[in-house]
Amino acid sequence: MHTIIITGGAGFIGSHVVRLFVKKYPDYHIINLDKLTYAGNLANLKDIENKPNYEFAKMDICDFEGIMKLMQDKHVDGIIHLAAESHVDRSIKDPFTFAQTNVMGTLSLLQAAKIYWESLPEKFEGKRFYHISTDEVYGALEMTHPEGITPPFTTTASSENHHLAYGERFFTEDLKYQPHSPYSAAKASSDHFVRAYHDTYGMPTIVTNCSNNYGPYQFPEKLIPLFINNIRHRKPLPVYGKGENVRDWLYVEDHARAIDLIFHKGKLAETYNIGGFNEWKNIDIIKVLIHTVDRLLGRTEGEDMNLITYVTDRAGHDLRYAIDSTKLQRELGWEPSLQFEEGIEKTVRWYLDNQAWMDNVTSGDYQHYYEEMYAHR
Ligand code: NAD
Ligand code: DAU
Repeated sequence: MHTIIITGGAGFIGSHVVRLFVKKYPDYHIINLDKLTYAGNLANLKDIENKPNYEFAKMDICDFEGIMKLMQDKHVDGIIHLAAESHVDRSIKDPFTFAQTNVMGTLSLLQAAKIYWESLPEKFEGKRFYHISTDEVYGALEMTHPEGITPPFTTTASSENHHLAYGERFFTEDLKYQPHSPYSAAKASSDHFVRAYHDTYGMPTIVTNCSNNYGPYQFPEKLIPLFINNIRHRKPLPVYGKGENVRDWLYVEDHARAIDLIFHKGKLAETYNIGGFNEWKNIDIIKVLIHTVDRLLGRTEGEDMNLITYVTDRAGHDLRYAIDSTKLQRELGWEPSLQFEEGIEKTVRWYLDNQAWMDNVTSGDYQHYYEEMYAHR
């Protein structure tokens, strides 16, 4: 029997991780610890909210005392830490909140886990603190081949029609951290604290750094859900700069599968990079989205191209991210499962089929879900 806290389980990736663990491990007790910021939506977990091995705890990761008590009361032996402020544009406007949540929140979780686990006879034996981080901590890569080159990797996940890399260098686990945005600087700092707790106190930690995720339940401030919704409603698509920036996209359920594998089989104190070997220029992905939404809505494919609107670039906009996840493939045998065409089709279809979910989020109604479903329990 494991009792695991998953922080940020009401968010995008966290909800997929919670769902996977609750369904796959009926003998584990899964506690979703989430503050329910604007990004937390319990409706993301409607299908599993009544499962006997699932519990929701509305709590701030900065609440050190509250976390200590929860760990003691529930005999927690594992933490999978996803809670964070996650949107780069927000971090540019409000860096303090990012430092508070991503740095101080991670530190309070680490310290609570350390004190509680050290108080047990077995101490750190059988315990695990798994911190989920981002590829953005490595900074930005050059675009040495703007037309794209054949990458040195093959994977089942890369698109059949678009298997390109835009430079020779990739993010590997040994790279120096060079974060540029307040978001990535705060994530980098939290990663350093996690490693410091291993090196100083012997805490059983693991860190993973993942590329851009896409899929169902992503908050529509992020490129893919925002643009799908805008195309549907024929609203302008605000493309930052020239749309030339490159991101490496991974289907969110493949990230959740990697987290499951690494939580159970990963080596302590290690770092693993997770990515899809699936680089896209923003403008190319936007065109795919327009074609897919148009086709699925029975419009003429491409008729909504005129929605593309070039706007002022994001400050400090990182040019290219590209993860090298060969270590994870080699050591633990993980591979993304979905071809990009399949993943993007599933994703667009999900948002179009779940307009009620989207309306609930864009109207702000989702923020009352907790009061309606949980406050009385
Ligand atoms: P998200 O913004 O969708 O969800 C974040 C969740 O954390 C929300 O449920 C929110 O309520 C909760 N939260 C925020 N502050 C909190 C606090 N102080 N206490 C408790 N809960 C709090 O984020 P996401 O996109 O799902 O990202 C999850 C994690 O994965 C983050 O750590 C992020 O840095 C990392 N990550 C994200 C991506 C991506 O593409 N989205 C890629 C790599 C890594
Ligand atoms: O790389 C992993 C990171 O991916 C995660 O750590 C972050 O939490 C996650 O938000 C994501 O960061 P990005 O900044 O890459 O994601 P976003 O969806 O905000 O933007 C993707 C690209 O699209 C980026 O180059 C900026 C651009 N963009 C974004 C928005 C919202 C636009 O051109 N227009 C937009 O309106």
